[in-house]
Amino acid sequence: MERFEPMVAIDVATKEEALNLFDELAADTQHTPIVKIGMELYYAFGPGIVKQAKQRGLSVFLDLKSYDIPNTVHRAMQVIGKMGVRFTTTHAAGGTEMLKAAKAGLVEGAREAGLPAPKLLAITELTSIDEHILKTEQHVDLPLIDVVKNYAQVAERAGLDGVICSAQEVKAIRSVTQPTFLCVTPGIRPDLSVHDDQKRVVTPAQARELGSNGIVVGRPITQSKEPIAAYQAIRQAFMEGE
Ligand code: C5P
Repeated sequence: MERFEPMVAIDVATKEEALNLFDELAADTQHTPIVKIGMELYYAFGPGIVKQAKQRGLSVFLDLKSYDIPNTVHRAMQVIGKMGVRFTTTHAAGGTEMLKAAKAGLVEGAREAGLPAPKLLAITELTSIDEHILKTEQHVDLPLIDVVKNYAQVAERAGLDGVICSAQEVKAIRSVTQPTFLCVTPGIRPDLSVHDDQKRVVTPAQARELGSNGIVVGRPITQSKEPIAAYQAIRQAFMEGE
C-alpha cells in the first residue's frame, strides 16, 4: 500500500513562524517532509510561500479546497499544476464535471511546466457538517457515512486520486473504491489525551492500522518545543509501525 510521509499542517499566522517551521523540518535530510499550506497562509503570502517551502527541499500539499464552476476550477488548477506541488484539494460536492475539469487542469498545467501532476484529493463532507445540518440545511436524508462513501465514489469515477477523510471512515470508503484510491486522514494525536478542538482522534500507529495512506498532523508538531523530534516520532509510528 502506498504510504506518504506525514503531512505537516502549517497553520500559523505569520510568515516568520512558517519559515521557521520550514527550516526545522528541512533539517531532516533523510526524509522529505510534506508541508500542508492552507488558505490562511496562501491568501496572506501567495505563491511565494510555496516557493519558500520547495527551495528548502520540502514537498507541498496546497490545500485550497477549490469549489466553483468547471471552467474556473479548470483554469485555477492549471495554475496549481505549474507550481510543482505534490497534493491539492477540491470539493466533491462540485460535481463530476467540475472534478474532471479540476483533474484535467492540473494535468495540463503540470505537463506545460514539465512536472509530474499533483495528486488531487477530494473533500467529501466537511467534518464541521453533522447529520443535523445535513438533514435540515442540505435536505439530505442519508446517514453521513453513506454521503461520504458516495462522494468518494463520485471522486474516484471522475479520476481523482483520493479523499481526505477521518481514519474511522477509511474502511467504509475502501469497501466502495479501488485499493489504489488514497485516504488521507487528519485528526491525529500521538497522545490521545490531547485533543485540542478535534472531537475524535487516533494515533499515527492506529491510522496506519486503519489503512490511511497519509496523515495530516498540525499542532502536535508545530506547537512542539522540538518540532523535528515530534515529526520523526510520528513518522516512525506511521511509516514503520511502533
Ligand atoms: O493541528 P491539527 O493536527 O488538528 O491540524 C489538522 C489539520 O487538518 C488542520 O489544518 C485542519 O484544518 C485539517 N483538517 C482537519 N479535519 C478535517 C479536514 C482538515 O483537521 N476534516
